[in-house]
Amino acid sequence: ELHGSVTIIVLGASGDLAKKKTFPALFGLFRNGFLPGNTRIIGYARTKMDHDQFIDRVTHFIKSKGYEKQLEEFKSILTYLPGQYDDDESFINLDKTIHQSEEERKIEVGKRHRVFYMALPPSVFIPVAKGLKNNTYAKEGLNRIVVEKPFGEDSESSAHLAKELGACFTEEETFRIDHYLGKEMVKNVMMVRFANIFFSQIWNRSNIDNVQITFKEPFGTEGRGGYFDEFGIIRDVMQNHLLQVLSLIAMERPISTDAEAIRDEKVKVLKCIPPISINDALLGQYIAANGKPSYLDDETIKNKDSLTPTFAALVLFIQNERWEGVPFVLKAGKALNEAKVEVRIQFRNVAGSLYKNAARNELVMRVQPDEAVYIKFNNKQPGLSYQTIQTELDLTYHSRYSDLAIPDAYESLILDVLRNDHSNFVRDDELDAAWKIFTPLLHKIDAHHQDIKISNYEYGSRGPAELVDFMKKYGYDRSNANYSWPVQSVA
Ligand code: BG6
Repeated sequence: ELHGSVTIIVLGASGDLAKKKTFPALFGLFRNGFLPGNTRIIGYARTKMDHDQFIDRVTHFIKSKGYEKQLEEFKSILTYLPGQYDDDESFINLDKTIHQSEEERKIEVGKRHRVFYMALPPSVFIPVAKGLKNNTYAKEGLNRIVVEKPFGEDSESSAHLAKELGACFTEEETFRIDHYLGKEMVKNVMMVRFANIFFSQIWNRSNIDNVQITFKEPFGTEGRGGYFDEFGIIRDVMQNHLLQVLSLIAMERPISTDAEAIRDEKVKVLKCIPPISINDALLGQYIAANGKPSYLDDETIKNKDSLTPTFAALVLFIQNERWEGVPFVLKAGKALNEAKVEVRIQFRNVAGSLYKNAARNELVMRVQPDEAVYIKFNNKQPGLSYQTIQTELDLTYHSRYSDLAIPDAYESLILDVLRNDHSNFVRDDELDAAWKIFTPLLHKIDAHHQDIKISNYEYGSRGPAELVDFMKKYGYDRSNANYSWPVQSVA
């Protein structure tokens, strides 16, 4: 545990990520008593700002209604220090500042822990890691470094980054954030699978027909085009967030809940997935509709002929005894008709069924918005009829749990760092295995290979028109699904 005597240094403290995610999450922890009073947070960035400007900036997105007093206390543990990202002098200065604060707090030698949180653009990851290692590395306590994606753009660039960062910080010292692993429903997957006997028994190719992991956002790139156009939807959310969810759904039972036991299983299952074939991909880019702009209308996109996908449906197959032949469809898109992230597991038809019109069972884990786990379930139509109707066994969190308070993903993950728990972070070999699955396809897309087709879809639509047939091709069956979610229960 690093708790109790730590200095958290947020590098890139003037940037968007720090302002929108890191500092609000730190405040959330502080408010809930998870950052003891002798914790100090030092913001570090190139921008020249005085203390008040810094405080204004990093508390801008903090929702403090009802917590005004705690916010004032929180402000008192924050300091700002401007400095360069590629200059030893600046990092020596940072070291002095931290040291001074450790002395003031009378932290015992040996417990002067430092957490370096890199809320930085990838172009400076390596110089900053070197600068920290050479000049700011704690000698009287533990060091931890927190890094955020993008971890490279393909296998090769990721390996290069891993090598350079690995030369500065050990794997034990490194926490690679994938914020999806901090989401409540994603943290629930292992529990659902391994603490319920009826799921552990049917979790395989004999019973499951197909699995869909879906990410939908109702807005476009809007101002983030500079970053997005180089990366595209596959690198932005699929190679990381959706693949993490897939590995939790598909991995074997770990021997324990220890971080390494879990990550061993994730790596194993990823290694059973061959690279995605272009024949198993449907790609799209949004066009203007309903008064909303097209992707290419975004001013931050420089290349007006860009073929970067903003939508993709990709099918992965897992070559092991449990999953052979079961399509895992990852779908993700910007500028779609709704905001939704969910896992949908569709079971096979009941063999030799007496009830020919029974629809398939599905298990849905809704990650956001509005966390829920529900099963589509066949039931006799109550009354004189013998009709099967599909209904739901529904665990919607907000109706089941009173006083529901789900922490932000970043809050949960930063607490994990302080507890030195790596379970919800990406290990080096895991990252490598993940890139191997995506790199060949990404290279084809980047090179505008002749087999690559980018279909247009309207802003606010469900995605490219081809999607329905694409899903059918991989077995998704909605026939007999005489089902609609009840708007209101009938008294
Ligand atoms: C980020 C992507 O990693 O995840 C964004 O870069 C995306 O493009 C975001 O919008 C989604 O996160 P969340 O938590 O809002 O689902």
